[in-house]
Amino acid sequence: MRFILAKDATDVSQRAYDFIRKSILQNPSLILGLATGSTPLELYKLMISDHKRGNLSYKKVKTINLDEYVGLPEGHPQSYRYFMDNNLFNHIDIDKNNTKVPKGNAINLDKECEEYSSFVSTNRPDIQILGIGSNGHIAFNEPGTSFNSSTHIVKLKDSTIKDNARFFENESEVPQQAITMGIKDIMSAKMIILLATGSSKAEALYRAIKGPITEDCPASILQTHPNTVILGDHTSSFWIRVNREPE
Ligand code: F6R
Repeated sequence: MRFILAKDATDVSQRAYDFIRKSILQNPSLILGLATGSTPLELYKLMISDHKRGNLSYKKVKTINLDEYVGLPEGHPQSYRYFMDNNLFNHIDIDKNNTKVPKGNAINLDKECEEYSSFVSTNRPDIQILGIGSNGHIAFNEPGTSFNSSTHIVKLKDSTIKDNARFFENESEVPQQAITMGIKDIMSAKMIILLATGSSKAEALYRAIKGPITEDCPASILQTHPNTVILGDHTSSFWIRVNREPE
């Protein structure tokens, strides 16, 4: 695991983009694992602006997203499919048939989970982009999730529902369940880039990087991944910079 202290959120995004750009130039058919949430938004803006300047094509790139809410139709403005279309895919030259997001409204969710994991194992992401939850979750793998998990349905923790309520009219509208790649799926990526910005992530980031490897902090498993880069800004890296455990 490599930790890079970036200047600020813009620098975090720029550095992540530099990895992606270089990798797509080397391999135009790259498989890119993507995340939703606020953290990667600036990265997606950089991907769009550089694409519009004619510098990078996504024609052959494939993407695989981490997760989706259960029960929201694909066109729902808070669905992760809608998020990805609007914040990235609609603005670059990617073939939408090459973009995969779990189907949260599948009739048979168990089958969807099984098929998703099997898809990930035959399409191992070359680079997986991750954010981190304030409780240390990655994708929707909440504390306590088995490190051996494959794609599964989760009941969201209250803390995650609260964190995500800002995207909905009110907290009661946040779906209670999600479909998420499991930790084993995520760890199968050839390279992982985790982005962390803002003070709300400081404790989780410390535990992920310096804490014990424990299912209580799902992101701590990344310490065992052979090619993980963590990009943190000054605020998210507070406890790492002062080199002591969060109080
Ligand atoms: C989203 C995802 C989540 C987020 C995490 C941080 O696809 O997998 O694990 O990365 O909740 O969210 P933000 O970036 O909104 O702070």
